[in-house]
Amino acid sequence: MDTKLMIATEIAKAVPELELETILNLLEKPKNATMGDLAFPAFSLAKSWRKAPNVIASEIIEKIDGTNFEKVEAVGPYINFFLDKEQISAQVLAQVISAGSHYADQNIGEGRNVAFDMSSPNIAKPFSIGHLRSTVIADALANIMAKQGYKPVRINHLGDWGKQFGMLIVAYKKWGDKAAVEANPINELLKLYVRINAEAEENPSLDEEAREWFLKLEAGDEEATSLWQWFRDESLVEFNRLYTELNVSFDSYNGEAFYNDKMDEIVDLLTEKGLLEESQGAQVVNLEKYGIEHPALIKKSDGATLYITRDLAAALYRKRTYDFAKSIYVVGNEQAAHFKQLKAVLKEMGYDWSDDMTHVPFGLVTKEGKKLSTRKGNVILLEPTVAEAVSRAKAQIEAKNPNLANKEAVAHAVGVGAIKFYDLKTDRMNGYDFDLEAMVSFEGETGPYVQYAHARIQSILRKADFVAKADATYSLNDTESWEIIKLIQSFPQVINRASDNFEPSIVAKFAINLAQAFNKYYAHTRILDESPERDSRLALSYATATVLKEALRLLGVEAPDEM
Ligand code: ARG
Repeated sequence: MDTKLMIATEIAKAVPELELETILNLLEKPKNATMGDLAFPAFSLAKSWRKAPNVIASEIIEKIDGTNFEKVEAVGPYINFFLDKEQISAQVLAQVISAGSHYADQNIGEGRNVAFDMSSPNIAKPFSIGHLRSTVIADALANIMAKQGYKPVRINHLGDWGKQFGMLIVAYKKWGDKAAVEANPINELLKLYVRINAEAEENPSLDEEAREWFLKLEAGDEEATSLWQWFRDESLVEFNRLYTELNVSFDSYNGEAFYNDKMDEIVDLLTEKGLLEESQGAQVVNLEKYGIEHPALIKKSDGATLYITRDLAAALYRKRTYDFAKSIYVVGNEQAAHFKQLKAVLKEMGYDWSDDMTHVPFGLVTKEGKKLSTRKGNVILLEPTVAEAVSRAKAQIEAKNPNLANKEAVAHAVGVGAIKFYDLKTDRMNGYDFDLEAMVSFEGETGPYVQYAHARIQSILRKADFVAKADATYSLNDTESWEIIKLIQSFPQVINRASDNFEPSIVAKFAINLAQAFNKYYAHTRILDESPERDSRLALSYATATVLKEALRLLGVEAPDEM
């Protein structure tokens, strides 16, 4: 049983007039471990009991059954509970040893689907750091919710539709070079796009041509479609290289284009429900009653649909296809207004499941303290950056462990893990400065630090030739191991809090705390020395490594056994 609940239950027996819930809320974690693991403050009873809190504390303690505790004592107005370290460590270690990586698996999700709208870069445009954040955060959330028993569906809602494809077609037909695009798709396509936009300023007829080509594309014209398909395929080759590096995969690449033939239904439904209004020739949905000032623009005066029209079709399609329990959009905070509109329109349409949709925003990344800007040349190109992280990791491994086997694979795990972990360790709404040196450092709150703690434990276990036995009793009662036991015991709650708040940083912070607690233990304790507790110390090490590895896995970070 959860230890907090166990303590609250004991108190409830002694003070029947208090609800269990009330007691749970009152229990505090003392500032100092010498005051126990949890404390019950008696202040709130002073009024009804008409007694001083310290008198109440000593009266309650008389009625408490202390058999399951190491010690229960009244200190002033508090009752301090000391958990039975031996008993609880034995339970926790046995649980981890029998479950292995499945420790803390839950069935809250009961196999229900959760849709993740994630990554979603735009065809023929560079993959931005915002797309990286979306990819990494959503992938971690998907892993975390899978551990809770949900079934994640990872959807890459590619930006592969819109008038810009008319522009690209015109530009390619005028100036394009097939081989150059194939060699360097996004760079070449972007150049064409930038050039046509510049030339269109002088020569508006290019805009008109582009509009016509986009209309052709929407109508399924063969030439337009095959060019569009080719731009998309070539861009995806490039994006997929990055996804392979990051070890992230998707269940669906249905992007905006996929909904081209599914938008009429949305417009019809909105019309049927009398929700469309005309405004300056355009069709809009008024959302004032939701406190949203700007109406949602569904169809432009020339009949073209918009980003939100495609998102409406996508939301409905996902509900029908996956019958999701939740539908999560991991997209930068700058699109917050869009997602408010999206949910409000669906609500107006009578879809109560729109309440299950959540926009999970995140903050901006800076470089050397400055905002990223393609125009000002302050950009982070992801492929070379990942390669640089891997080569820095390799250099550190060369220095620390030159004889390591499969250095390449380990360097890759460390370099890529470093970037992901750094992104995930801060509250997602706080941006961060993209500092490769800090990311790849083995010191501080970094991925390599946690990976290194895990690898060190594996090396201890190898040295001892230790195999944890499911039927053995391992238990410990010193204060350093107790910190580790309490952390391991909290892992299921950590996962639930991370999921409830859509906040992978809770898992990352947990991994840092656990690695730090183990390093402290390691500094204080001679784990391998012969003594009756040796096996229990090794079992604790094994359990720590198992949970560290699992926490890293949830974050999409590998944990090499040696580094
Ligand atoms: N392609 C968009 C962009 O790069 C992100 C799409 C987010 N997802 C969505 N369903 N609107 O800004």
